[in-house]
Amino acid sequence: MSDAPITFGSDLSVPKASSQASMIDPFGRAVTYLRVSVTDRCDFRCVYCMAEDMTFLPKREVLSLEELDRLCTAFIEKGVRKLRLTGGEPLVRKNIMSLIRSLGRHLDSGVLDELTITTNGSQLGRLAGELYDCGVRRINVSVDTLDHDKFKAITRWGDLAKVLGGIKAAKDAGLKVKINAVALKGVNEHEIVPMMEWAHGNGHDLTLIETMPLGEIDENRTDQYLPLSLVRGRLAEKFTLEDIPYKTGGPARYVEVKETGGRLGFITPMTHNFCESCNRVRVTCTGQLYMCLGQDDMADLRAPLRASEGNELLYDAIDEAIGRKPKGHDFVIDRRTKQPAVSRHMSVTGG
Ligand code: GTP
Ligand code: 5AD
Ligand code: SF4
Repeated sequence: MSDAPITFGSDLSVPKASSQASMIDPFGRAVTYLRVSVTDRCDFRCVYCMAEDMTFLPKREVLSLEELDRLCTAFIEKGVRKLRLTGGEPLVRKNIMSLIRSLGRHLDSGVLDELTITTNGSQLGRLAGELYDCGVRRINVSVDTLDHDKFKAITRWGDLAKVLGGIKAAKDAGLKVKINAVALKGVNEHEIVPMMEWAHGNGHDLTLIETMPLGEIDENRTDQYLPLSLVRGRLAEKFTLEDIPYKTGGPARYVEVKETGGRLGFITPMTHNFCESCNRVRVTCTGQLYMCLGQDDMADLRAPLRASEGNELLYDAIDEAIGRKPKGHDFVIDRRTKQPAVSRHMSVTGG
């Protein structure tokens, strides 16, 4: 039931400019970016994200595609301008393209600036053309290494050739692709230069991410953690890195690499906290609204969504939750801190 495709002509609301009210949190930050995890499932098992043996949510807990559409639309009415679908792996959800196509109407009407996804790339060979057709113009694909064996070791179940084929298909379809790589000590640490040269050589931005302590995983986080301040210092010995004001609405800070002519982003939740400029919240596939990736507090939106056909209860629940968006996260990775900062896995909130 929950994966029934959204059909056109069904009663889908279109936000009116007059109904837009902005969401301002207690620290004066406007929430304009919504990340929606459309499934907690994934066809990979990345070592920093999941345990190999994961228990996923029963399907009945998960919002239907129509409910997700209604929820996203309500957020757009409340001022969201950028919408990112995540997972797990968003493209493994059955009939997901019908949701993306339906949400594309908000691009056409001008109330949404960007509709995008973060994906592991495994399904892009099949779906890239359709994504473009739905109005998606830019996607983020996670690739932590270009070494086939290492890729298998990091993702456990992934196939690098398929992902690279997917990235090529996306580029050919006209999508701008940003590559995300989680910097992992002793794993891809010495591969960052070739990865950057590959990404820039193919016209992709590359963003490096510090690993964050979310959820119990099978490995030790301290062994994986590589501060990007160190990586940047090493890169600066070989390359000319010029800070640039380029912004995508996400937390990355970019440099232009003179030698390659490409952009390199750094996402540094551990070494440099960017929470002061946070503009985003995330919703899980069960309709839980997390006001911060690094805190446990959340608000249930499924009950108000299902309680009535109108959106008043939902708006009230959203307003109440935004009113308690915390100042920021309290991530620490060190040998003394045995517990992750929050107990849920990254695949619950989709990063
Ligand atoms: P752009 O639109 O390209 O800027 O994407 P993005 O960086 O917003 O999204 P993406 O899904 O590519 O996320 C990249 C990484 O940034 C993931 O590891 C996210 O967990 C991390 N990230 C995004 N927002 C936040 C945040 O508010 N706090 C923290 N700590 N990490 C975040
Ligand atoms: N820390 C940092 N980034 C992570 N990602 C998944 N788990 C973690 C983690 N623990 C990344 C993925 C993807 C993005 C959404 O989040 O690699 O690029
Ligand atoms: Fe799947 Fe993404 Fe988590 Fe890897 S990081 S297991 S691709 S959800």
